[in-house]
Amino acid sequence: MRQDSLYPDSPSHVEISTADRDRLTRLKTQIRHHDYLYYVKDQPEISDGEYDRLFHELVELEQKYPELITPDSPTQRVGAPPLDELGKVRHEQPMLSLDSVVDPNEVLAFDQRMKRELGTDVIEYTVEPKFDGLSVELVYDHGSFVRGSTRGDGSLGEDITINLRTIRSLPLQLQDEARPDQLAVRGEVYMRLGDFHALNRRMTEQGLDAFANPRNAAAGSLRQLDSQVTASRPLVVTCYEVMATTGPRPESHWAELEALVQWGLPVPTLRQRCDHIEQVLEFHRETERQRENLPYEIDGVVVKVNRGDWQARLGMKSRSPRWALAFKFSPRKEITEVQDIAISVGRTGTLTPLALLKPVEVGGVTISRATLHNADEVARKDIRVGDTVRIERAGDVIPAIAERIPVPNQTRNDPFEMPSSCPICGSAVAREGAYYYCTGQASCPAQLKGAIEHFSSKAALNIEGLGKKTVAQLVDRGLVRDLSDLYRLDQEQLFRLEGFAERSATLLLDAIAQSKTIPLDRFLMGLGIRQVGQHIAKVLAREFGSLDAIMSADRDRFQRIREIGPEISESLHSYFQERSNRRVIDQLERLGLSIMPSPALPSTTDLPFAGRSFVFTGGLTRMTREEAAALVERLGGTVLSNVSRKTTYVVAGVEPGSKLGQAMKFGVRVLNEEEFERLLNRSEKT
Ligand code: IVH
Repeated sequence: MRQDSLYPDSPSHVEISTADRDRLTRLKTQIRHHDYLYYVKDQPEISDGEYDRLFHELVELEQKYPELITPDSPTQRVGAPPLDELGKVRHEQPMLSLDSVVDPNEVLAFDQRMKRELGTDVIEYTVEPKFDGLSVELVYDHGSFVRGSTRGDGSLGEDITINLRTIRSLPLQLQDEARPDQLAVRGEVYMRLGDFHALNRRMTEQGLDAFANPRNAAAGSLRQLDSQVTASRPLVVTCYEVMATTGPRPESHWAELEALVQWGLPVPTLRQRCDHIEQVLEFHRETERQRENLPYEIDGVVVKVNRGDWQARLGMKSRSPRWALAFKFSPRKEITEVQDIAISVGRTGTLTPLALLKPVEVGGVTISRATLHNADEVARKDIRVGDTVRIERAGDVIPAIAERIPVPNQTRNDPFEMPSSCPICGSAVAREGAYYYCTGQASCPAQLKGAIEHFSSKAALNIEGLGKKTVAQLVDRGLVRDLSDLYRLDQEQLFRLEGFAERSATLLLDAIAQSKTIPLDRFLMGLGIRQVGQHIAKVLAREFGSLDAIMSADRDRFQRIREIGPEISESLHSYFQERSNRRVIDQLERLGLSIMPSPALPSTTDLPFAGRSFVFTGGLTRMTREEAAALVERLGGTVLSNVSRKTTYVVAGVEPGSKLGQAMKFGVRVLNEEEFERLLNRSEKT
């Protein structure tokens, strides 16, 4: 009963002996068991040397009989060939998020609500850490791991099966005979702090950029097209929910976790059942005290009503279960010193002051810079070089300077002043309100680099392989002096750049050539005209249909469009008036860029948010900006990046920016995150 070999150049003439076949099966079972003890239970029973011998023996047998290699073999965790893009996966069940609170009183209120809705005085809760990683869905079919995906928008995630397979603590086979035929579980993938620091050291040694925090490192490692990269990254997984199963539903969350353990899945080791809410508060306090000692990052604890039938009775809201709550820790604060104030120059020439700090560790991450946003903010907080300041970091929000801490009898430096010339190119600096701009445009290397990065980004011309480092070299060596020069590059020139060989040069030139056929909206967005983002670019493309029509429009014509106010009109008009811009566009077309009219947008006039526009400022805690924008758009609303009198709502999250001030100035209705969610809920029902 010979099978055809899957591997053409394998020694297919070798007859499989029964003894070898049995030995191979035994080895796989043994190694799986030791993997489980080592990676999940953290209690190895054999030495590394013994393990290596077993592993090596299996490798040899599989080399002898390649047809016996199965995808769940312990040798198959090394990663597969790179992909062009991650596929999409529809989740078995929507992946919800959690309501979150920081105030203990809100936890007491939650308890009251649960008691009222369930009509009881006694509720058992389970508590466990809220892991600061990436949420994933893992699907097992008859015990074999067959599919894994990211959360995505909650319904549709990205297929990261081959990447997840490389994570050692994720069993490729479930253990127990009693495991259900079909099982989808939810868990969190994260990186332990020690591993994160070691990885960053390795990256820096190789001249690569370090990751800002363990969460980014985990995300970057997991959403990889090349699973061999994922395989080299120290990721771990922990599971905390059964999302769907053909087997019986465990009667409680606690029983569910125990079932997961039975099946060989890793679950949170730090977990507890609480008879009443006081114990929940105590667990939160104690865990927060222990936070610094934990080998991984957590940002709070998750409280769940334990009984399954009660969970079912309580049900869901639109995006979160009623029976669970994320009880977050307060943001981390640290005291440090401002060593200098530097200026960074962005793509549109905006000068942003940046505090260079005496490095401090905040929650396992070294912070050495914080944005100061703009000159007004520096003045308002009165931050000067040499000052002592309190910085805050909440989740992955960029650290901000919360306040200056006055030090008695200290002689302070002079107040900070914005420079009058650009620190990069020396051009004059112009001022608009609190904002300062370099007037150098494309002659300023910082602006040119930013412009090229923006032009080649995914949402614009999508030139893959044109990363920050390459752009910097192209500009610094004078190979690219405006956008059109990208289409003049040749193999010779790329060869001379650091990090380029024949293959990578060819790939980049191909990517550049491919970008030559481009929908009008993406081209417009790529030009980087101030105030013209993805949305406005789409509006313009739909309204005008061709680049020529847009280039010959005047301010009034632009302003007749509902979404476009005087500022955007002015910005568009002056961009297309500028001779150098017209020349670059002309050159791009001569070099073969073919700009396609964009397809018309579907009519959304019947939807509840039709005609309403939203501007977001500050961070949202319960969803990402992209998720929020997608929800608004699904309901027919539009998301804009700037506030005008015509804006319907400004949604202000954590640490809102200047848009909040603008909203108040223009009398635009401001919603906080909760009000925004309520509005969504109401509109989803209609
Ligand atoms: S339960 C239906 N438990 O926190 C309940 N979530 O929005 C689903 N998270 O994205 C979540 N640790 O990825 C649960 N022990 C835990 C968790 C946890 C971290 C994440 C989850 C979700 C976010 C809350």
